[in-house]
Amino acid sequence: MPKKSVTAGFATRAIHVGQEPDPSTGAVSPPIFATSTYVQEEIGKHKGYEYARVSNPTRTRLESNLASLEGGIAAPVFASGMAAINAIATLLKSGDHVVCGNNLYGGTPRLFNQVWSNFGLEFTYVDTSDARNVARAIKKNTRMVYVETPTNPLMALTDIRAVVDVTKSKKIDLVVDNTFMSPYFQRPIDLGADLVIHSTTKFLNGHSDGLGGVVVCTRPEQAEKLAFLQKAAGAILSPFECWLILRGVKTLAIRMEQHDKSGRIVADFLSRHKKVKKVFYPGLPDHPQHELALKQMSGFGSMITFETGSLANANKMLRKVRVCSLGESLGGVETLISHPATMTHAAYGEKGRKAIGITDGMVRISVGIENVEDLVADLDQALAAI
Ligand SMILES: Cc1ncc(COP(=O)(O)O)c(C=O)c1O
Repeated sequence: MPKKSVTAGFATRAIHVGQEPDPSTGAVSPPIFATSTYVQEEIGKHKGYEYARVSNPTRTRLESNLASLEGGIAAPVFASGMAAINAIATLLKSGDHVVCGNNLYGGTPRLFNQVWSNFGLEFTYVDTSDARNVARAIKKNTRMVYVETPTNPLMALTDIRAVVDVTKSKKIDLVVDNTFMSPYFQRPIDLGADLVIHSTTKFLNGHSDGLGGVVVCTRPEQAEKLAFLQKAAGAILSPFECWLILRGVKTLAIRMEQHDKSGRIVADFLSRHKKVKKVFYPGLPDHPQHELALKQMSGFGSMITFETGSLANANKMLRKVRVCSLGESLGGVETLISHPATMTHAAYGEKGRKAIGITDGMVRISVGIENVEDLVADLDQALAAI
């Protein structure tokens, strides 16, 4: 996209940055460069691409697009969200300490506790919805604070600016997993975060047809280290998967608008349903951090968790859904409904879930963009089974 790209609006950048027509043919849709290597004219004389683990033009396009949407300087992409989080851990050294939110996607503490702690990294988990807990957990060797906001599945928020006030003066990097909001509704870098990660598998792709992850950087040395890691460790995203995200992201703005609209309607319906004991959604006025949500996010999104009362109740309703699809994952155009205790948060174990308030009766819904009346009717008939 021409120089104006920096000032262009979000939807314009999503559709045009890195999405320029192919210069050799004029094709409007960027080509998928299915190649492992690139021919050289003579030793060391090439067009900037040498080997596909190091770089690929389809990947370059996606990385510039995502950097633009999050307001970062680079956005190296990896084979999955977990590969992106793993890449972040490699920025640390043995002996370093990380303060983490105590309610993260289950795979993240699994990676930290069962892999990285064997290599000398130390992790402390606190409730980051109060920034004072972060300040209290910081030690001499703390190098990073890692949060998800809203959290998965409890939908608790972390005040990004308040945590930045704690970390910036101490030169500690704040990493925000922005998967639930997408850059359309939340821009952590604008609020002072140092790194942003996404499972692009979710809203950025938007169509439940590929895995991927991205780390959005704010400083050149981060970008250099992560580009080196792509080359050295090789957990890069394939050109086809890059292309799927390039295609999906073109409609991110309009999809997020509809996700948000329908999310609010479904949350309101659930909050008034007599079989539902509690609803966790930052858009509801009774959410304890509703005011912060209004300040920090420009929409509430479509992730909602609700309490059915027991595992048996959750199972009764989940067996009955017809329009909603029972399955792990989120952020697709289709409504996905899941059971955190046995799916995304199974790795926490019963004790771990109890400690942070994840119950067996909780159901999480990622509201898609189907006709919202059909979703409400489907949930209503499913809840009747309880
Ligand atoms: C918030 C969040 N972060 C990271 C991940 C991991 O991403 P992936 O499944 O693409 O490895 C997930 C997966 O569900 C997630 O929900």
